[in-house]
Amino acid sequence: MIRSAAWRSHSCGDLRAENVGQEVTLCGWVDNRRNHGAVHFVDVRDRYGITQLVVDDEAATSAAEQMSGLHQEDVVQVKGTVRMRIEGQRNADRITGDIEVVVDSVKVLSASATLPFEIADHIDVPEDTRLKYRYLDMRRSPLQRALQLRSKANNAIRNSLCDQEFIEVETPMLTKSTPEGARDYLVPSRMRPGCWFALPQSPQIFKQLCMVGGLDRYFQIARCMRDEDLRADRQPEFTQLDLEMSFVDEEDVYAAVEALMQNVYQAVHDVELAIPFERLPYNDAIALYASDKPDLRNPLTIVDVVDVAGDLDFVVFNNVLESNGWVRAIRVPGGASLSRKQIDNVERLAKESGAGGAAWCKIGAEGPTGPLSRFLKSDAGQAFLNRIEAVEGDLIFTIADTPRRAQVALDVVRRESASAMNMVGEDDRIVWITEFPLFEQNDDGSFHPAHHPFTCPVAEDLPLLRNGQKEGIRSRAYDLVLNGVELGSGSIRIHDKDLQNEIFDAIGIPPEVAQERFEFLLRAFNYGAPPHAGFAIGLDRLYSIMFDAESIRDVIAFPKTATSACPLTAAPSVVDIQQLDELGIKQVIETEQEVKS
Ligand code: AMO
Repeated sequence: MIRSAAWRSHSCGDLRAENVGQEVTLCGWVDNRRNHGAVHFVDVRDRYGITQLVVDDEAATSAAEQMSGLHQEDVVQVKGTVRMRIEGQRNADRITGDIEVVVDSVKVLSASATLPFEIADHIDVPEDTRLKYRYLDMRRSPLQRALQLRSKANNAIRNSLCDQEFIEVETPMLTKSTPEGARDYLVPSRMRPGCWFALPQSPQIFKQLCMVGGLDRYFQIARCMRDEDLRADRQPEFTQLDLEMSFVDEEDVYAAVEALMQNVYQAVHDVELAIPFERLPYNDAIALYASDKPDLRNPLTIVDVVDVAGDLDFVVFNNVLESNGWVRAIRVPGGASLSRKQIDNVERLAKESGAGGAAWCKIGAEGPTGPLSRFLKSDAGQAFLNRIEAVEGDLIFTIADTPRRAQVALDVVRRESASAMNMVGEDDRIVWITEFPLFEQNDDGSFHPAHHPFTCPVAEDLPLLRNGQKEGIRSRAYDLVLNGVELGSGSIRIHDKDLQNEIFDAIGIPPEVAQERFEFLLRAFNYGAPPHAGFAIGLDRLYSIMFDAESIRDVIAFPKTATSACPLTAAPSVVDIQQLDELGIKQVIETEQEVKS
């Protein structure tokens, strides 16, 4: 490791027994201070480690004075000599734990004021305070570790993709709206009053243009901005590993992504990730797990009981069946051991998710017990139990509702009952979800693209599309899911202008609007567009799982809060009225207080 000769001979993590006797200069922050009678100990810390400094009152009076005047987190430069610690005082938990530096002189380079919180890993600090003083939080090991791992992982991504002949291209931040489905962050143009840039929700269109430009394989570690309601795994500003490839099909994209994921796991965890990853068509994922991002560590699966439910004489089932709803069951092996309280909790969560209920029964030695059991006494009941292969010791949940509500509730029941039973496996499970539908229905009956409007339909389904059908049309889109978290999405793209216009038309974007919004893409398609496909991984999500972080904020250097604010800089904030005048913007809201009142 190269150190600046002018400032320090070693880092605070460098010194070992073999350095004993050397005169050294260290720079760092004052960590722990202890006085043992006549002996002063001070720990000095930097990114690389902690070194114990010691001074004997008798040996060096001025050094002792300097040491006793130090405060926590002062930045110091220390000169001294390395010596072995005496037997019994060595610290095996610290890389520098065999030695200490006997101090000749200490210079305070920058004094620290009283700290808002102690810089110690075990101290619990409210997140708002950690975000406000992010540079202090950064001195503690969890964030140091996360940022170092993040850099290592980014490096592994770059190496893997450069080895695969991808080239890194930066695309603009001041651009036009991209259709990823969120609200845009807008930036006013001073040069063209009344006109606005949008910050990119993703580099989607630019990467497609790179393919038209003949770059063949593009990648970028790209910042994306989306003004959307935040959830635990969302940030308004986040990072994607974005890639695009020409003359490829799904298999080529999967192989490129699998190779880079292998490289990242190798670099960060030193493990060989098994490839190829599992695959699961979207329809199977919904049927088996009621989710397009199933956590495959959870062994529970869903059974469609629509064919046997109608004979049970259960009015709730009958009503749902009449309106073509879903009646599905989840068998929890061994679940009969759960307490009434645990079962009620699962049922309550199902109801909170919007379902009418989650009728259940336990299978005991004497047969079914619990609310559903009275509908199961007949032959039809036996047929129902056979259908779900129920055995003694099982707990059975059923959900009957509209497909949309039932799906949400089944997902909840599956997750909650597996967690109550402690049956979620430990090993990471990564899976490609394939053949997503091309469109999703809005509440008002209209349709929007399930991925984005540049996604290619499955060729066999094109005649249906041309017949005006929207439901059941498959797309060539795929997601990557890790432990129930959507890590990334991508698709084979449309490279034909006419088909692209057909899709705009199908989702209700009139030709003139499509022309206005996407003219630059449609024009490019006139000049020879190669067939192309791509993918984007949400790196904050990937890293929060890989580094075992509690939230994606814990792997981001300067994240925003759940209300999209930055406590460190106090952004967003009001601006000078002159700035608005220059931009030709008239503010109708005076202050944030006014907005609230
Ligand atoms: P998509 O919109 O699915 O696809 O985004 C890809 C991945 O980005 C991550 N992600 C987020 N991470 C944190 N905060 C957010 N607000 C957020 N939104 C998305 C997710 C997601 O899977 N252009 C397409 C990709 C393509 O087709 O190539 C796109 O952006 O992990």
